[in-house]
Amino acid sequence: MKKISKICCIGAGYVGGPTMSVIALKCPEIQVTVVDLNEKRIAQWNDDNLDNLPIYEPGLKEIVAETRGKNLFFSSDVDKGIDEAEMIFISVNTPTKTYGKGKGQAADLKNIELCARNIAKVAKEDKIVVEKSTLPVRTAETLKSILDNTGKGVKFEILSNPEFLAEGTAIDDLLNADRVLIGGDETPSGQAAKDSLSWVYEHWLPKERILQTNVWSSELSKLVANAFLAQRVSSINSISALCEKTDANVAEVARAIGFDSRIGSKFLNSSVGFGGSCFQKDILNLVYIAKSFGLQEVAEYWEQVIIMNDYQKRRFAENIVSTLYNTVSGKKIVFYGWAFKKDTNDTRESAAIYVADALLEEKAQIVVYDPKVSEETIYADLDYLGTRDPKENRELLQVTKAPIEATKDAHAIAILTEWDEFKTYDWKKIYANMLKPAFVFDGRRLLDKDAMASIGFKFYKIGES
Ligand code: UDX
Ligand code: UDX
Ligand code: ADP
Repeated sequence: MKKISKICCIGAGYVGGPTMSVIALKCPEIQVTVVDLNEKRIAQWNDDNLDNLPIYEPGLKEIVAETRGKNLFFSSDVDKGIDEAEMIFISVNTPTKTYGKGKGQAADLKNIELCARNIAKVAKEDKIVVEKSTLPVRTAETLKSILDNTGKGVKFEILSNPEFLAEGTAIDDLLNADRVLIGGDETPSGQAAKDSLSWVYEHWLPKERILQTNVWSSELSKLVANAFLAQRVSSINSISALCEKTDANVAEVARAIGFDSRIGSKFLNSSVGFGGSCFQKDILNLVYIAKSFGLQEVAEYWEQVIIMNDYQKRRFAENIVSTLYNTVSGKKIVFYGWAFKKDTNDTRESAAIYVADALLEEKAQIVVYDPKVSEETIYADLDYLGTRDPKENRELLQVTKAPIEATKDAHAIAILTEWDEFKTYDWKKIYANMLKPAFVFDGRRLLDKDAMASIGFKFYKIGES
């Protein structure tokens, strides 16, 4: 087993940035270089003002402050990074394809292939290549076929090391990982590569938590883990709809079933729908793989998790329209939150985007407040859907940094992200600001129903009648 002294990570995003920062912190003898084609992003990672890092994660800037310039480096010189490293992580984005075969389902592997070709072009010595990005099963094979045909006699070992960190808790998830999964060939050189990567993680994690498998099991486990987590959310969300029609309370149901140790209490919070870059994409990948092997029932089973999630977002928007006397045209509706969950500025697949889009179709006047998401991102998210032209999006929807002031003459407030600060607002003042009846639609089950009702609000909370 070889001890690694130089690591390069291609892709300075939500996965690559935090993961490499933690490796640098825990492995002071390893030089870690994160490279990215996006020069602006690299400049942000190198900014003297640590509040300008390109992503927000609690605890991240402190680690970057400690390691940057010592053994953690950010660079746009991708070739140099590859050339110097013994171990290369590929951590580039793999969005769902928006064109051609597998459109809307399969992952777009364009960036991965570009990385592989780049490594093949630059590498002069043997290297361990680690796939970190979420990838469809068998991507390692694609990588291998590109890398093994360079004709330069350089040997590559390909490992799959899927990421299980969740945004907003990325640093804690990395430092205290439930498990690390390392997939690789069951050959002597494959075993040695797996042990080298395991050695990196053993700097801070007990060996029992580092699981070794073959490549395919590792690649598939990543998709399945996310599919199971998303399935729990869709399952409880399906029950939330039933609770709203009866006197049952979804929180009580979740608590009651969660006490069964076979079920467990985590990931049972009913919400306006799951978002994020992974859940939907990974399930779509799973569905695509199942279909490609002719396993129609398997594909349909998992597809239902997404159908339920879409239903939950649509249901929330439709409830706003019907409660506001079947019309929201010209009515001011304030959105609290745009990110797909609290403590992150990431908005990929956020429920807020789809709820906004549905209400904008009804000509609502939306004002959005999110403590971490920029105006530019919010408009980009809406424009990307292509439902209406960008000009109209800007006419119908405004972005504010003044959450209380924004409620002046509003008909309703919709809570789309569970930011803690919303709980501390002066809701009496907000009530006074609003038109009456003043409606609050709590898509995150954040606020207390009785307290809100006693202020005077017409309060709707997901999963309660
Ligand atoms: C997820 C996985 O948790 C992580 O292991 C994997 O590496 C990447 O995908 P992430 O997308 O960052 O992480 O966030 P997560 O906390 O899993 O939440 C995903 C979505 O589900 C969010 O929109 C969240 O609000 C929602 N959710 C989660 C619920 O609605 N209810 C819950 O009980 C839990
Ligand atoms: C079940 C519930 O467990 C129990 O709480 C409830 O009160 C009654 O229903 P039971 O039907 O007796 O109990 O058995 P259980 O152990 O849950 O198994 C049900 C079926 O699922 C069995 O056929 C079992 O073989 C199968 N099973 C269970 C699996 O195939 N895989 C598993 O991992 C677990
Ligand atoms: P993730 O959530 O998977 O980390 P991000 O989009 O946050 O996704 O980050 C992926 C990063 O990978 C982006 O900064 C992008 O510029 C970078 N990237 C994509 N393709 C390449 C490539 N071929 N070479 C170098 N960097 C790349």
